[in-house]
Amino acid sequence: MKTKAAVLFEAHTPFEIIELDLDGPGPGEVLIKYAASGLCHSDLHLVDGALVPRFPIVGGHEGSGIIEEVGPGVTKVKPGDHVVCSYVPNCGTCRYCSTGRQSLCDMGARTPEGSMPDGSFRFHSGKEDFGGMCMLGTFSERATISEHSVVKVDDWLPLETAVLVGCGVPSGWGTAVYAGGVRAGDTVVIYGIGGLGINAVQGAVSSGAKYVVVVDPVAMKREAALKFGATHAFADAAAAAEKVNELTWGQGADQALILVGTVDEEVVQNATAVIGKGGTVVITGLADLTKLTVHVPSADLTLNQKTIKGSLFGSANPQYDIVRLLRLYDAGQLKLDELITTKYTLEQVNEGYQDLRDGKNIRGVIVY
Ligand SMILES: NC(=O)c1ccc[n+]([C@@H]2O[C@H](COP(=O)([O-])OP(=O)(O)OC[C@H]3O[C@@H](n4cnc5c(N)ncnc54)[C@H](O)[C@@H]3O)[C@@H](O)[C@H]2O)c1
Ligand SMILES: [Zn+2]
Ligand SMILES: [Zn+2]
Repeated sequence: MKTKAAVLFEAHTPFEIIELDLDGPGPGEVLIKYAASGLCHSDLHLVDGALVPRFPIVGGHEGSGIIEEVGPGVTKVKPGDHVVCSYVPNCGTCRYCSTGRQSLCDMGARTPEGSMPDGSFRFHSGKEDFGGMCMLGTFSERATISEHSVVKVDDWLPLETAVLVGCGVPSGWGTAVYAGGVRAGDTVVIYGIGGLGINAVQGAVSSGAKYVVVVDPVAMKREAALKFGATHAFADAAAAAEKVNELTWGQGADQALILVGTVDEEVVQNATAVIGKGGTVVITGLADLTKLTVHVPSADLTLNQKTIKGSLFGSANPQYDIVRLLRLYDAGQLKLDELITTKYTLEQVNEGYQDLRDGKNIRGVIVY
């Protein structure tokens, strides 16, 4: 069959809308008709060259849709099921899945090629194979993907909203709740209020943080954070650090969460300095893989028992947490509708990313 998709042929070029051939589902695979796709900053890293995948690649890894067909042996979902895609597959049986660490599933090893778990491809044009970002390629009308990349969700939920729970919401919320381990009474500093950072605010607030101090140079982002429950918002890290010092009587923050668009050594240094004894820095934002971005005095970590850690998918378990977060939304305890700034068509994907660069969007969403 044919599908229209937004494809990247190389870095530093725009996405091109082209028609591709799409294979139907083989064993363990499903054909999905995407309903929506979020515009996450990680796809922008493909464009900017910080993440280097196998080209050409169909962009997009935050997706929701309806299963149209299943391949032999698939029992997880059936045609007609509503699903949210997990940008990390979860096989359920590898060392990590079987110990409650699905965000580290071994099946994610195929992510840079964007192939199926067996290394083959389902998108083609002539003799050329096309990968899909994070084994998904949600910037396409349809895709054939692994059954391990989908999570069945309640079919009364709007897929255009539920899509956000495929990456931005769990990655941000889990950064605070799971990786940061925010507890009632904690003081949390959050750097970067985009599609992820705003959900770190929601996670910190739901965990009972006393103070949630955010840093973002864009005024609209700071205003949004305050609406989502942040207690203080600053345009620069130094002003935030001064406030944290005052609020905590010099003890420092309990957690500093880094969710900026591109991580650099300055933000890591600021985060490490703003936490107090026993505090934790979580690095969720990405940076060029070849750049050294953590430069801090190790003696500060030793003498103050500070922790610096990374987090993927908010250190959450997609199979459980995607459903869990949607049920919190359904119960009115998690904001999702308010996260969507602008809706686009697939043809407007480059415009959507320009809006992200220009600081106009909390989250842009392509609706099919
Ligand atoms: N670890 C994961 O599982 C995971 C998942 C998805 C995305 N990501 C990464 O997380 C990061 C954030 O993604 P997003 O979609 O929310 O991006 P975004 O562009 O929507 O948001 C980034 C925000 O950071 C702000 N910012 C930039 N520099 C800053 C600085 N020095 N101090 C404070 N704020 C700053 C920007 O103004 C913007 O509001 C990206 O690097 C993305 O690739 C990681
Ligand atoms: Zn993402
Ligand atoms: Zn696994």
